[in-house]
Amino acid sequence: MKPIVVRKSKGLQGTITVPGDKSITHRAIILGALARGTTVVKGYLPSEDCLHTASAFRSMGIPIEEGKKAGDPLRIEGKGLRGLSEPSAVLDLGNSGTALRLLTGVLAGRDFFSVVTGDESLRRRPMRRVVVPLRQMGAEIHGRQDGDRAPLAVCGRRLKGIAYALPAASAQVKSALLLAGLLADGRTVLTEPFPSRDHTERIFRGMGIPLEIKGAELSFDPPSEFSGREILVPGDFSSAAFFITAATIVKNSELTIRNVGVNPTRTGLLELLAEMGADIRLENRREFNQEPVADLVVRSRPLKGLRVRPESVPKTIDEFPILCVAAAVAEGETVIRGAEELRVKESDRIRTITLELLKMGADIEELPDGLLIRGGRKLSGARCAGHGDHRIAMALAVAGLAADGETTVEGSQWIATSFPGFEQLLQSVAQ
Ligand code: S3P
Repeated sequence: MKPIVVRKSKGLQGTITVPGDKSITHRAIILGALARGTTVVKGYLPSEDCLHTASAFRSMGIPIEEGKKAGDPLRIEGKGLRGLSEPSAVLDLGNSGTALRLLTGVLAGRDFFSVVTGDESLRRRPMRRVVVPLRQMGAEIHGRQDGDRAPLAVCGRRLKGIAYALPAASAQVKSALLLAGLLADGRTVLTEPFPSRDHTERIFRGMGIPLEIKGAELSFDPPSEFSGREILVPGDFSSAAFFITAATIVKNSELTIRNVGVNPTRTGLLELLAEMGADIRLENRREFNQEPVADLVVRSRPLKGLRVRPESVPKTIDEFPILCVAAAVAEGETVIRGAEELRVKESDRIRTITLELLKMGADIEELPDGLLIRGGRKLSGARCAGHGDHRIAMALAVAGLAADGETTVEGSQWIATSFPGFEQLLQSVAQ
């Protein structure tokens, strides 16, 4: 695939929309498959990660039909909570950690055997975080390094609800346990040290599954059944983040991004950029099935560095690569700590963003659990690598808009895991 080539921009202008939310699309497919009857998912994200989730459910006997043309909804014919059938082949979830971890939760309580796996990067990522609590629920799961690495073989067992305190905030772990809890005997009770994204909780409620939330504690009793329905997916905040940051750091920009999901458990970047001096207005606030949505109007502003507080980490988790780009052009120092999770994402993001921004002339240093960026250095175009990580590749393309000369980003094919059409959209608004 051809690398992305970006030149210094004179300003981003226009009104755009970004593709549907990846986290919500995964959950809509999963809940639609477990519901009884038809679920229609409008605005879903047709990216590789989400299509892997859909094909896994097709392999378990659930009819899922994609629209004939772009923008058409996804139709899922759910067969009820116990309606999945044993897949006759290994379920390959590609590059998607969310798909693999959530599916492990779905599969643990079935009356059949299944194997989940993924690409080389996914097979290197830690799975014990879901396997350990699922085993406490009674699951039998085998894998390399005592179940810490995929492929994972899941021998379906009868599960029991447990009370579990997550050692670290993680929406993937929380969601895997909630999905396993749907088939467990008794109540599932979960607590997290900081709130992680709550799309699973919102979609449970939207599907009519009662869930109790008291402070940091989440609990529910398994329902007997629930019915399919229409789900409208907002634009992905994590995709909008690249355009929000680009319009903030490239002088003479004014960009409107419509229909963006602004769930407060996701929008840490908005708070951090505002603290750095950005001008981002939220207009036309509304809801798409329990999820807050707004249009964002972004104007360029000079930024200053900041210290990221630990409670901001979970709600900013996927935005650190692009925050590093903002910090590199800001005046002063930015310190990110308590973000060791970044080392086990699609790449070791602490290392890969440091390596690549150094090539562009940034003053950036790795810390064991974060980054130290001394901003204000002039960035210059370079030949950069995407390290098989969609968000690293997109962050570097945005850095290229603010850098002198030409920036080339190799590995652009990975962007299709979350943001098909990114390059064309960026070229259409950047002059
Ligand atoms: C996701 C949760 C986050 C995030 C990932 C998507 C989800 O991971 O990084 O891109 O959809 O639940 P963790 O829960 O591991 O932090």
